[in-house]
Amino acid sequence: MKCLRIAFSSFRNIASESCSFSDGANLLWGKNAQGKSNILEGIYFFARGRSFRGAREKDMISFGENEAQLSLDFIKDGDSLPVNLSAVLSQTGKKVLTRTGAKLSGTKEMIGNFRAVLFCPAHLTLVSGGPALRRSFMDIALSQLYPAYLDSLSRYNRALHQRNALIKQAQDTPIDSSLWEIYAEQMSSLATDIASRRLKYMTELDGYVAELFDSMTSGREVPRLDFSTVLQKEGGGEEEIKGEGQKRLRAMLCDNLKREIAYGSTLYGTHKDDFGVLLDKKEAKLYASQGQQRSLALAMKLAEGEASRRAGGEYPVFLLDDVLSELDEGRRSFILSKLSDRQIIITSCDSDVMEKYADSVRLIKVDGGRLTDTADYGDRSCE
Ligand SMILES: Nc1ncnc2c1ncn2[C@@H]1O[C@H](COP(=O)(O)OP(=O)(O)O)[C@@H](O)[C@H]1O
Ligand SMILES: [Mg+2]
Repeated sequence: MKCLRIAFSSFRNIASESCSFSDGANLLWGKNAQGKSNILEGIYFFARGRSFRGAREKDMISFGENEAQLSLDFIKDGDSLPVNLSAVLSQTGKKVLTRTGAKLSGTKEMIGNFRAVLFCPAHLTLVSGGPALRRSFMDIALSQLYPAYLDSLSRYNRALHQRNALIKQAQDTPIDSSLWEIYAEQMSSLATDIASRRLKYMTELDGYVAELFDSMTSGREVPRLDFSTVLQKEGGGEEEIKGEGQKRLRAMLCDNLKREIAYGSTLYGTHKDDFGVLLDKKEAKLYASQGQQRSLALAMKLAEGEASRRAGGEYPVFLLDDVLSELDEGRRSFILSKLSDRQIIITSCDSDVMEKYADSVRLIKVDGGRLTDTADYGDRSCE
């Protein structure tokens, strides 16, 4: 999959610009606060359906404007015609999405068309950070690959939200017990779909991470990803999740109401899933060096690309926001060599990065929301 062109109007600090990309490595280069991450945010919007920075749609519209427009042309490997995705974001909260001119029903219909893997400095803490970061890593990857997953996940999150509100209400007023049973039934069934997909995915990723880490570190240590969910206690895999696990969660959601009401929210479910990262059978979070933790995170991101290729038949586009300057030379050249046969779009404000790679990348200068493709202008000056 290749991103051919992105066009913006009134998006963040970009008034009206477009930019073409080449098949290999593309470098968006400029000083801080010029709009580099904004461009990746715009491209990734089409893969993820929202901002990777957690911004609301309104926040992405240029200050003082009523709406922002984004348009992405991409092409699937082996296809002769590109696909266009476009989005109009409005201050009123209304959003119009199209695919090659035809209106889409919403974000869910858009996700899965254009696939991308985003790698930014926050991902370097995938191993050491909290479980929410790891759940979001699984969710973002799986949502792009399996529309049914995204559907189950949003239904589960909605039910969880409602059940939490009901728990708060129950602190003052007793709630009819049949209502708790309905939630237990619905949430345990959706949790089963979610957890079994996550387990399958993490098992697949485990294999890729082992291979990648092996070639990165010459096989000195052996990593392992260890998915954990309340639906799988006995190590019985997918079968257990779909059988005993589902029953167990259903019972837990009915039998612990007193505790949950005292605590103020739902204590059991797939929203507590996590995965441990082990290195030589030891918890990497506690025992691995910061460098090893970064290498593991790097391997996980590359593995995400491998899993996406297996599910979708082609590599996704890789978007690297500011990570190159966070990595030492060894890790930097490892990632670039691993990605050398795919399309990558990198942002950097580091002159060393620019000077080192200028000849092997398509260099696009970003300055105050203006983009200059140096392939057109031959201008590589920094000022
Ligand atoms: N809604 C918006 N309207 C106009 N400018 C914005 C908006 N949101 C962010 N900006 C501007 O975008 C710039 C940051 O862009 P960013 O892409 O994060 O920079 P960088 O090049 O460092 O990655 C800042 O100058 C900020 O003021
Ligand atoms: Mg940035």
